[in-house]
Amino acid sequence: MSILAIRIDGKAVSAAVREEVKQQAAALTAQGHQPALAVILVGEDPASQVYVRNKHKACAECGIRSLQYELPASTTQQELLTLIQTLNEDDTVDGILCQLPLPRHLDEQAVILAIDPKKDVDAFHPVNAGRIMSGDYGFLPCTPAGIMEMLRRYDIAIPGKRCVVIGRSNIVGKPMAMLLINAGGTVTVCNSKTRDLPAVTREADILVAAVGKPHFVTADMVKEGAVVIDVGINRNTEGKLCGDVAFDEVSEKASYITPVPGGVGPMTITMLLQNTITAAKIHKEENE
Ligand code: GUN
Repeated sequence: MSILAIRIDGKAVSAAVREEVKQQAAALTAQGHQPALAVILVGEDPASQVYVRNKHKACAECGIRSLQYELPASTTQQELLTLIQTLNEDDTVDGILCQLPLPRHLDEQAVILAIDPKKDVDAFHPVNAGRIMSGDYGFLPCTPAGIMEMLRRYDIAIPGKRCVVIGRSNIVGKPMAMLLINAGGTVTVCNSKTRDLPAVTREADILVAAVGKPHFVTADMVKEGAVVIDVGINRNTEGKLCGDVAFDEVSEKASYITPVPGGVGPMTITMLLQNTITAAKIHKEENE
């Protein structure tokens, strides 16, 4: 009988970080600067409504003021940019997040560019993306930041390790690769079309799957003792939530593994809260 991998408990790590966020929010509030996050939702996408509601709830639980802007799907580009400009200029607002995807007639890139980089708690603005490249960052994109936090809290060292990231999105794959490079990893970025992908992934000491395909990573693709991080949030044929990794079979080979649900997912909003605290500290110092 094989030994099963240790499950990385995203809920527990998330709870620990949220406790620290709560304390930092209380300290800032006591100094007269309650951290505040503005969340903009355009339209009625049901998944986005759930995400936004969860962000609001998480803020409330940690003592962060959250301002909700729910705009109709008919909102024009100009109306949205005007709201962002108002929030950029509002000294009481520390972070601004515009929930994506936007309705088709709106230009996402223009919206990302309009948010003041100092309030860009998603770290989607090119200024923040560039700062991640140089290793000098204030904000980190929430999902990769959450993964780094989990690795840190489980004492999983990165220097010298072979790291393979499957997925090259701007939100997860690319910044994830940068953070692993900055931490001293030897990093390969693949995608679902990479030739002989299993041969590449079998090299990984740390394997991050962000492909968006249920059970894409199977045991034959994983090296004995690897750390496997599953970013996928998919539904299987029975409609059940599942990741990109075939959890049961990969658990028999990996040393550590993140489950879905309960792994990377809970960390994402937590890192948004952490970014809001960072933004509040920047603004507080600027206003002093
Ligand atoms: N939609 C799905 N994930 C995210 C996220 O992290 N930030 C924003 N702004 N929109 C999203």
